[in-house]
Amino acid sequence: MSSAPRTSKIPYGGDYNPEQWPEEVWDADHRLFTQAGIDTLTVGVFAWSLLQSALDTYDFTPLDRILDRAVAEGRQVVLATGTAALPPWLAKAYPEVNRTDFEGRRHRYGSRHNFCPSSPVYRELSTALARRLAERYAGCPALIAWHINNEYGGACYCELCAEAFRDWLRAHHGTLDALNDAWWTTFWSHRYTDWAEIEPPSALTEHWRGPDHTAFQGITLDYHRFMTDALLGCFLAEKAAIREHSADTPVTTNFMGLFRPLDYHRWAPHLDFASWDSYPPLDAPPTVAALAHDLMRGLKDGAPFWLMEQTPSTTACRDVNPLRRPGELRLASWQAVAHGADAVLYFQMRASRGASEKYHGAVIGHAGRADTRVFGEVAALGAELTGAGALTLGARTPSRTALLFDWDSWWALEISDGPSRLVKYTDVVHRYYRAARAAGADVDVVPVTADLSAYDVVMAPVLHLVKGDLADRLEAVAARGGTVLTTFLSGRGDTHDRAFLTDVPGPLAPLLGIRVDEWDSRPAGVTNGVLLPDGTRAEGSLVFEIVVPQGAVPLAAYEADFYAGTPAITRHRRGRNGGEGWYVATHLDQAGTDWVVRQVLARHGLIGPYAAHTTIETANRLTPDGRRLLFLLNHTGQQAELEVQEPATSLLTGEHLKQGDPLTLDPYGVAVLLAG
Ligand code: GLA
Ligand code: ZN
Repeated sequence: MSSAPRTSKIPYGGDYNPEQWPEEVWDADHRLFTQAGIDTLTVGVFAWSLLQSALDTYDFTPLDRILDRAVAEGRQVVLATGTAALPPWLAKAYPEVNRTDFEGRRHRYGSRHNFCPSSPVYRELSTALARRLAERYAGCPALIAWHINNEYGGACYCELCAEAFRDWLRAHHGTLDALNDAWWTTFWSHRYTDWAEIEPPSALTEHWRGPDHTAFQGITLDYHRFMTDALLGCFLAEKAAIREHSADTPVTTNFMGLFRPLDYHRWAPHLDFASWDSYPPLDAPPTVAALAHDLMRGLKDGAPFWLMEQTPSTTACRDVNPLRRPGELRLASWQAVAHGADAVLYFQMRASRGASEKYHGAVIGHAGRADTRVFGEVAALGAELTGAGALTLGARTPSRTALLFDWDSWWALEISDGPSRLVKYTDVVHRYYRAARAAGADVDVVPVTADLSAYDVVMAPVLHLVKGDLADRLEAVAARGGTVLTTFLSGRGDTHDRAFLTDVPGPLAPLLGIRVDEWDSRPAGVTNGVLLPDGTRAEGSLVFEIVVPQGAVPLAAYEADFYAGTPAITRHRRGRNGGEGWYVATHLDQAGTDWVVRQVLARHGLIGPYAAHTTIETANRLTPDGRRLLFLLNHTGQQAELEVQEPATSLLTGEHLKQGDPLTLDPYGVAVLLAG
């Protein structure tokens, strides 16, 4: 269940740190906010040391003034608990709150996002702060949401974490026998006879060339799961403290999209609504941000999420930090809304004067001017979002295509010794996602536990681990006439990454009608041609599986090497309702992937009406009262000429459009068409 904040329009604004400035500056800030249509401020994200200067010394007056001012100005507030950056006194007095890194070094005070999740002192003091904030501000009329901590992530390897890991293992495996079996410890003489013998997998223990090179995949997988749960424990403790005083205000924490260290699916049930910070590299194709939006929307069963942060212009943390080109901010913002964002927020409202983010883009720069390009674009977008009112709020995405996303498979694939270190989970996933999006299909990116009954097409690229009843649920998709598409390196391991003692791809083999006999990994740059049925030639790379059909029909074969002529793509009819299981046995290039995905989508009539316009992204949303919105996004610097496919009203221009009318999209232009 999702319970998002109730607002009358798309909340617009972002991270605001007035505590860094004298109050005269606040006057200017609020004037500029009004000018830019900014109605929502996220405050207190890094305010711990200001609010608590010693163990028993709290002073909330700075925050009182900030919130009083927000109320007086009629702004909405997202209040952060401020527990992501430790105050120096705390780290000094209690060294246990500082993390121990992968190399076993206990860190000292510095930076942020680096508290030990198992430290009782951290737990006690972070929840105490959250509790006091909730007690004091639960009734604040500006408050619309709680923002716990900030961008949780990373891992700790200290003794407290080791002890907590052992407890986690006891709870999850029950007995040492079960654990020994799960981790396959008879290999290399690892049979544990006491829980105390178990060490966190680090550079000092199981790992030999960094975090992805482990002697035992089972322990490393479990450590990822444990760390996810340990940090989640911090979130839950703060949330419980908030709930003592603030019963209903929705609670979130800002995620980071495709962030490998934390399995956000384990967190999702505990958030009232999902939110995330989008900082795509500027040269990334637009589907990179879109994939993350769709993953975030998938956290709460398709309910809208919030875009909690994006930069209005430039980042600061990269080696080279390009500007968002004129129009790109508007485009990225509407793209987020198109994919289910019900808020558009920035980091940051006013540029910090010093420290590491002084060059980070901000709505208001150091000079405080309103006549900058960035401020102008922010204000223009603010006016547009005000104009859109409540129409998009709560709208859902009517997808009939699902893409399974699985952190366990991601981890297992990338910590595996063999077949290839070059296969990157999200690269493969993105390739299939991009193909479906370019064909105009809306895609739900969902966990492997999701209800699949609403989907015609289920794509499961590099589904390395097959857990629980998933194979049966995929069979059920085909049994009712749907199509399942998966790829090389799928169906390789169980929940503990132990190989199945059957033909590859394990429990998926009957659905796909194949067995994989061998697999050949080749260096980057080595390709093998794959002639497609339409006469075009695609290329495979990285891994070439040698497939023996067991009922499946080969659709395309490798051109070269000793396995020339064996199938690279297969299709298997399954059941009496026309269902199919498709398999791609190599890392096909984008053109080949596009061909496969379009074949599958076409079977179900899921190719979109604008699919021929390869640089135009389309996305649909259905409003709570049943109205259909079509977003058209031009991701190029060239004007695009389209033809309207059905009668609609243009939300941003007010124009009424008939079928067949020309529709011009400016460079980086956006149209939002309300059907009817
Ligand atoms: C993250 C953090 C912010 C800020 C921005 C800069 O999203 O949450 O505090 O550091 O990055 O891009
Ligand atoms: Zn620790």
